[in-house]
This record gives sequence, C-alpha cells and structure tokens, in this order.
Amino acid sequence: MKIGVDYYPEHWDKNLWEKDAKDMKEAGVEIVRMAEFAWSRLEPEEGIYCFEWLDEIVELFARKQIQVFLSTPTCTPPLWLFEKYPEVIQVDKNGRRIPIGIRGHRCMNSPIYREKCEKIIRQMVSRYADNEWVIGYQIDNELEANHCCCPICEEKFRLFIKNKYQTVDKVNEAYGNSVWSGEYSSFSQVKPPFGEHQTWLNPSYMLDFNRYASESTVEYVNFQRELIHSIDEKALITTNTWLCENMPDFYKMFEKLDFVSFDNYPATKLPENEEVLYSHAFHLDLMRGIKKKNFWIMEELSGSLGSWTPMQSTLQPGMLEGYSLQAIAHGADAVLHFRWRTAVTGAEMFWHGLIDQSNVKGRRYQEFCKLCHTVKEWKEIEGSIIKNHIAILYSSEQEYGFKVQPQVEGMHYFTQMKAYHDAFTCLGIGVDVIDWLSDLSGYDIVVAPTLFVTNDKIEANLKEYARQGGTLVLTNRSGIKDEYNRCIMSPLPTVFSELTGAVVKEYNPIGKKTQKIEMSDKIWKGKPFTCTLWCDVIEPNQAEVLACYGEDFYQGEAAITVNHYGSGKVYYAGTVLNRKGMAVLVEFIVKDLGMEYIQGIPFGVERTVRQKESGQYVFWFNNTEKKQDFVSWKVQEGKTPVTERAILEPFEMAIIKEIK
Ligand code: GAL
Repeated sequence: MKIGVDYYPEHWDKNLWEKDAKDMKEAGVEIVRMAEFAWSRLEPEEGIYCFEWLDEIVELFARKQIQVFLSTPTCTPPLWLFEKYPEVIQVDKNGRRIPIGIRGHRCMNSPIYREKCEKIIRQMVSRYADNEWVIGYQIDNELEANHCCCPICEEKFRLFIKNKYQTVDKVNEAYGNSVWSGEYSSFSQVKPPFGEHQTWLNPSYMLDFNRYASESTVEYVNFQRELIHSIDEKALITTNTWLCENMPDFYKMFEKLDFVSFDNYPATKLPENEEVLYSHAFHLDLMRGIKKKNFWIMEELSGSLGSWTPMQSTLQPGMLEGYSLQAIAHGADAVLHFRWRTAVTGAEMFWHGLIDQSNVKGRRYQEFCKLCHTVKEWKEIEGSIIKNHIAILYSSEQEYGFKVQPQVEGMHYFTQMKAYHDAFTCLGIGVDVIDWLSDLSGYDIVVAPTLFVTNDKIEANLKEYARQGGTLVLTNRSGIKDEYNRCIMSPLPTVFSELTGAVVKEYNPIGKKTQKIEMSDKIWKGKPFTCTLWCDVIEPNQAEVLACYGEDFYQGEAAITVNHYGSGKVYYAGTVLNRKGMAVLVEFIVKDLGMEYIQGIPFGVERTVRQKESGQYVFWFNNTEKKQDFVSWKVQEGKTPVTERAILEPFEMAIIKEIK
C-alpha cells in the first residue's frame, strides 16, 4: 500500500527537481508517475532521442528510494509528427481532421503513428528495463473507445462488420435495414457514423459501431502491452481509465494488463438534495470488479478542479485524506495524487495540485503529509482483499445501448446501479460490481439492473443462478432488445419473464417527476415512498406483489414483485424508488435471506471491510460535511444485536482492526 504523486519534471525549472524530490521523500511519497505527455521532450526531432533529462530525474528518485511508474507518451505526439505525417491526425464525425494543439488527437489505428509509437516505446522501455526503481508502465493516458472516422478507421470498421456478418444480407437482416431504405447492397456502403444527426441513425448499427470502437482501443492497448513485455517481461503494465463519454469495455481492455488503475476525482461540492447519489464508492467498486482484485488510483483529487471549466469548490478539510482512504477501503493498493504542484503554464493551469501555484505548502499539502503517515501506520493492511456476497452486474452493452437510445430524461445506465449500491451501503454491506457474464455462484444476491440489451448467455447465466438458489433482482428496461439491438416482440421483460413470473402490461416513462408508491404490509407498514423515472405496470401471473403504485391511472397496480424460480427468488422492480424506499426494499431482501447487516448507519456513512488471514480491517468513512455521532447495531436473525457508537468528523475515516 503506497501513496504517490504525478509529477511533470518537464514543466519545471531543473533547479526545482532536487528540492521537490527531497520534499516528496519527507512527506512520505513512495512512488511517482511521469512522462505521459513528454514525447516532444523525449524525441524533439524525428529519430533524435533525448532521454538524458528523464535518466537524471529517475536517478534522483532512485537515490531517494522512490519508485517510478513511467507512461508511454503516446497520448501527445509532437507537432513535428503531425506536420510531417498529417494522416495520423484523428478525423471527426464531420469527416474533418481535428485541430491539433490539444491531446489524444491521434488516430490509434494509423500505421505511421503505430510505427512512431513503437520506436519511442522501445527507446523508453529498453533504457529502463534493468533499472529496479522503474517498476512499470502506464499505457497512454485515459483512453476512450476509438471514434476516429479517418479512411483507415473506416476500413477497419467495415472489416469488423464483414467479419461479423459475412454477407450484406445478414447485416441488413440484423439491422432491420428495410427501414428508410437503409439496405446495403455492398460492404463499401458501410461507413462510420458521420454527421451531426447521430441520434437518427439506426440503433443496431450504432451499437455495433460502439462495440467496434471499444475493440479498436483494446487492440491498441494490447499492441503497446505486447511491445513493452517483449522488452521487459517483469514490468507491471496498466492504463489509467476514467468514466467518460466513450468508455471502452473495461473487462476486455484490462484483460491482459496486470491491474486496473483509475483516475479518481470525487465531487468537492456535495449536493444539498439527499436524493442525489454522489458517493464515488460505486465507481471504486466498479474498478475493483473489473479484474476482481485490488487496483490503483493513478490520479487522485488534490485540489479545486478547473482549467477548461470554471473552478469548483476547494477541498473541505479532511476530504483529501478521506477520499484517498476511501479508495483504499474499496481495494486500492496505491493512490497517486494528481498532481504534485499546480501548473503555472499551459492548458491545465487552475486544476489544483497538492501545492498551490505560489509554491508555498499549504493546508492541502499538510493533509497529504498526514495521509502518507496514516498509510505507513497501517502498512499491515497490505495484502488484504475484499470479499463480498452481493454483486451488481455491469456491461458495456447496456452502457452503449442507453447512450444510443436514452430512455427517459434523467435516467442513465448508472442510475439504478448506484441506487442499489447505495441501499446496500446504508446497511453496511459491501458490494462487488462485476461483469454481467461472470460466474455468479459465490453470491447470495445478484442485482442485474436494466438489462436493456440481452443475449443467450446472460439469459442462461441468470436462470442458472436463480435455479441454484440465488436471489436475483431485475428491474425495469430489461429484456427490451436482442443482441442486435432490435426490440424483442413479446411482453416485457421478454426473455426474463419466466424468471419474473410476471409481465409488464404497459409503462409510463415519468422522467424527473415523482409518484407515490406503497409497499405491502409485509415490507413496510406506514407512509408511502416515492418512485421516479419509470413506471412499469406489472401483471403477475405467478409472482407475489410487494408494492403498488399509489397514484395515476395505474394506482393499485403492481410495481414490485417477487417470484420463486428453481430454488431461488427473483425480484422485479418496475420503477426506481427514492433513497429511503430503496433502503427498505433492500433490507427486506437481505433479511429474507437471514444475512447479517447493520442498522442505524446515517446516509453518507460507509462501512467496508478488507480481509486477511489474520483478521480483518473495518473502515468507517464519513462521506458528509457533518459531524456524525451515531449508534449502529448489527442484526441477524436469531442473534442478539451488537451495538456500537461512532463519532466521525466530516470526511474522517476510522480503521478498526478485528483479529480472528
Ligand atoms: C485527467 C488526466 C490528467 C489531467 C487531469 C486533470 O483526466 O488524465 O492528465 O488532465 O485529468 O485535468
């Protein structure tokens, strides 16, 4: 477990390096990431390499026993390269080469670009292969799925479609191209989605394009990975991912990499509305679930965000340390802060680092030093892992499906995943967010929200899980599409109706409105809750009704049901409950299984557990701006509740060791 920083020696006068390294050592920094944008300094002219400055700074850190994680600088090719080979510049959806001067503006598929990448990567990796302080490489920087529309990418996309379908007739059938005379008569007519009117394009074709775009990035990652490994077999290799508009398929992108790393920028201003789920805990669990193992934070929030947007609130006292420890509590084994010092030149001025532009060490820096100290004190946590019994299923298919066809205002793919994640968090229960096609056998509860795009594999996976005794939660907007993103012509949730023992009679996309919902007495005797975004009016044929709508023309009709399937149970929630309603529903599901959980946890307080053979570490995090003084109690059927009092300052993390 270590704390580190992201450092840009090429941005600073050389006479600052020695002092910076000394200060880092004193603060407790154990690792530094460098060079992801430094191509023009490493190869100022084609074939002329200047690594001496990097050697010098690597050496400086080595002398201080600080490890170095280098990055391949391929996100920002130098201007000479674009000038000499303009064909490596990305082409946008309007068919134009995009203006250079920013970053990430190269075409990953360009053979010339690949050739130049290979050369610079070879120089870098072979230079440090024997240096024990250079422990690994970050591939490129924050890669998105490749949406370049240049002639090379156009051909690649065409080939992807050709390989998938073999004949144009099969494509036409899969896409339903008889609509609007969209039938292909030759593969030459297959092109990337050009033009401004992307939402008017055929959703089946758009889903395939998104799949291709992801695959294209995965192929680029593997190109770099293989190259690095062919030179230095022992190097650790990762890439720093983030949550962006065009996300690649995380499971495929990281499949061959050593570990996942994530750029973690939690909100500095917490929403006033309690219904807004802001916690980054969900994102952290998503990251850990990609490889089902601990991960790294390659960039961690260190100050106000700014640069290309107006600045956001500064970090409240406790936030800097609290958010880093929150990442560790969810399985991070290293947290590197972005960035050591705030930039004083260039595009990223005002995206604040640990030290302000004045170069005077202030409040955030002191808190960072405290964090380094805390992590050193808890070194024994190293080697511990997280084992949960609840899983939420994620898939890129849904991510792309919803992006192509948003279902109603305010509803995003993450909406329900976050809502269920939050409800389990309220009960002090840890959750894994994992690939939808994973082996589910070890989980007591599996929540599979909004399975909009389906296929035979997921249908079989879920049926098998429930048949074997699993508790499955399905939700609205499931079973809508087949694998070609065509609507399935049978009552919703179509392929899952056998599991749910109920069908959807009709639905009302209510968007940001809220409506009343009443739980059955079995779950909750009292006031109604509210629901939002979507209302499926359910007709049970075999399932039991757990909640009904409390207003509108479908008042009294079923909103949530449960069905016995095999030896398991299948819940179907046709709507999205408010936060309290969700907590009540989830508590009912957990209680029904006789699982242990905790009552009395205030909203915004999170409990996570990392385990080791010798015992476990319980993390209590106050992710709110208020001091929390509360009594919680562990409950489990047939056992006497165990109560515990906790007092936590805003953003404070308490770590408790429990020996087995
Ligand atoms: C990240 C990126 C960094 C830096 C940071 C702050 O997304 O990887 O290079 O730009 O944001 O702006």
